[in-house]
Amino acid sequence: MTTSFSPQQDSATSVPVPVPVIVVHGGAGDRGRDAAHIAGCKAAAAAGRSLLLAGKSALDTVQHAVEVLEANPIFNAGHGSVPTTTGEIELDASLMEGENLRAGAVAMLPPYPHPIAAARAVLDEGLHVLYGGEGAATLAEQSAQTRITSGQMRSTRRTDIDTTSKGTVGAVALDTSGHLAAATSTGGTRGQRPGRIGDSPLIGAGTYADDTAGACSTTGDGETILRLCLAFAACEALRGGATAQAAARATLAHMEKRLGGTGGMILITPQGDVGIHWTTPAMIYAVGRQGEDIRTGGDQPPENPEGQNQTGNHS
Ligand code: GLY
Repeated sequence: MTTSFSPQQDSATSVPVPVPVIVVHGGAGDRGRDAAHIAGCKAAAAAGRSLLLAGKSALDTVQHAVEVLEANPIFNAGHGSVPTTTGEIELDASLMEGENLRAGAVAMLPPYPHPIAAARAVLDEGLHVLYGGEGAATLAEQSAQTRITSGQMRSTRRTDIDTTSKGTVGAVALDTSGHLAAATSTGGTRGQRPGRIGDSPLIGAGTYADDTAGACSTTGDGETILRLCLAFAACEALRGGATAQAAARATLAHMEKRLGGTGGMILITPQGDVGIHWTTPAMIYAVGRQGEDIRTGGDQPPENPEGQNQTGNHS
């Protein structure tokens, strides 16, 4: 595994400056390489990379990248969210920054275009970490969003394309100050009963970030991800010395062996080492790093995400 730590120096301090990088995913599932989903992830990674290169924080970057995915009705998040068995839309989202471990999350949020912005409002308010239902809606209103109806959101969803994904979108990023952040958003799992909450709004399960370990966003079987605190477990594996790819592979393998659950994750270290792995048939992803083309893939987990010529779709 190569590291992406930049040899360039900050001229004022002679301290190495990290090369900023963002990774996004469009959900683990059965779908293989699909032009619409790849284009959607590529657009989110490109938007996030532009922010990083403009000096924005990793936290702002992952929020914006996830908002791009939430606005795209082919993904099961925001506008494309799947309904519950009774036809209602219930949204989950969370985000976390790695410098001070601030986090914000919403669960069972009624239909708003950008649940991740509501989660950001929770983080910025700083009073609590996780709000549910109408309490979460109050935070969504604070993020200047207007509530829509489940019917309006259902009518936006691209059911012609989105048939097999287990859902969820996410992003992790390293900014030029060396800070990490992670964000995750979902409409939940297909066929879920009303009131069901998955892993995505749970800090440590769907999302985790700590500048001293790594940042992670997960996707897949929420009922197994949350019982194994998968995002936290992956970051702790990094803290223990694993490479990002080895940590992603090991934690997902453990989940499948221990609980029979499948899914995927994106992972990044404080040095910009990237891990991308999944145990479902596919997981569309995109990587945006300073000085490189956006890299995309999704059929085969890359053995070495730093050198995806063999497995990724350079574009
Ligand atoms: N991983 C998304 C969910 O289970 O809700």
